[in-house]
Amino acid sequence: MKHKGVYDYWQKRANEREDPFDISGNDTVLASLEIRYLRKYLPTGCKVLEIGCSAGRVIKELVKTHPNSYYGIDFSENMINKAVSLRLPDCRFDVQDILSYEKDNCCDVVYSVRCIINLLDSQDHLKMIERIAHWLKSKGKVILLEATKEGLDKINQYRKIAGLEQIVPHEFNNYIDLSSFMPRFEKYFSFEIVEFASSYYLASRLFNAFVAKLESRPMQYEDPINILGAKLPVFADFAPHKMIIGRKKS
Ligand SMILES: C[S@@+](CC[C@H](N)C(=O)[O-])C[C@H]1O[C@@H](n2cnc3c(N)ncnc32)[C@H](O)[C@@H]1O
Repeated sequence: MKHKGVYDYWQKRANEREDPFDISGNDTVLASLEIRYLRKYLPTGCKVLEIGCSAGRVIKELVKTHPNSYYGIDFSENMINKAVSLRLPDCRFDVQDILSYEKDNCCDVVYSVRCIINLLDSQDHLKMIERIAHWLKSKGKVILLEATKEGLDKINQYRKIAGLEQIVPHEFNNYIDLSSFMPRFEKYFSFEIVEFASSYYLASRLFNAFVAKLESRPMQYEDPINILGAKLPVFADFAPHKMIIGRKKS
């Protein structure tokens, strides 16, 4: 296996946490935003593949509002066991590595939520574009909720002005470099980028962080100003996290 360290991390985390909602990340406000925006762009009545589905957090929420046939894959057996135990209707889960899973033209929609950034070799980010295009039927839709180097640089630029330390990604994350990713993506997909987390990042990682530092208080993800930021309309591009939506060209 190519990313053994990343695999071990998620295997362990699956055993340490009970609630599927916080198994796959600590920022619960971001996690709710992801679901809200997926609901906005996900069609119904189709075959949907989630890559890196962990313990089924996202699918568990989507089945409530978007009737589809869901298939979730993840390379962590512990995560998949938890997802299967949810016994969700019209949902299947399998242990699969996204770098080797094979099935052509099988689905109408493929989406990911912070999974591609676990591929530590940036060449694999580019390979995933081709792999996803193969999995999708003609005119299929891809929705990637992933973190980017460009967005990280942007929020860090403003944190520097505010005298805040730079945000450094975890060692098991390799943020997507849009400058090489998007030209390749555009070969297969017509696309749009939705800055779904920008207002939230401005509120949480800049304003709340700045005031918390002045007041010498610790920050919580669910601080009121963060919740407010998550409710504001999207504007600008302050967040690493972006939603890249593509429609397969042929
Ligand atoms: C940040 S979690 C996100 C999980 C889920 N999408 C969510 O939002 O709750 C990333 C997941 O991707 C999985 N993952 C990472 N690399 C993978 C790979 N090469 N193949 C399959 N799954 C992978 C991990 O096991 C982990 O469960």
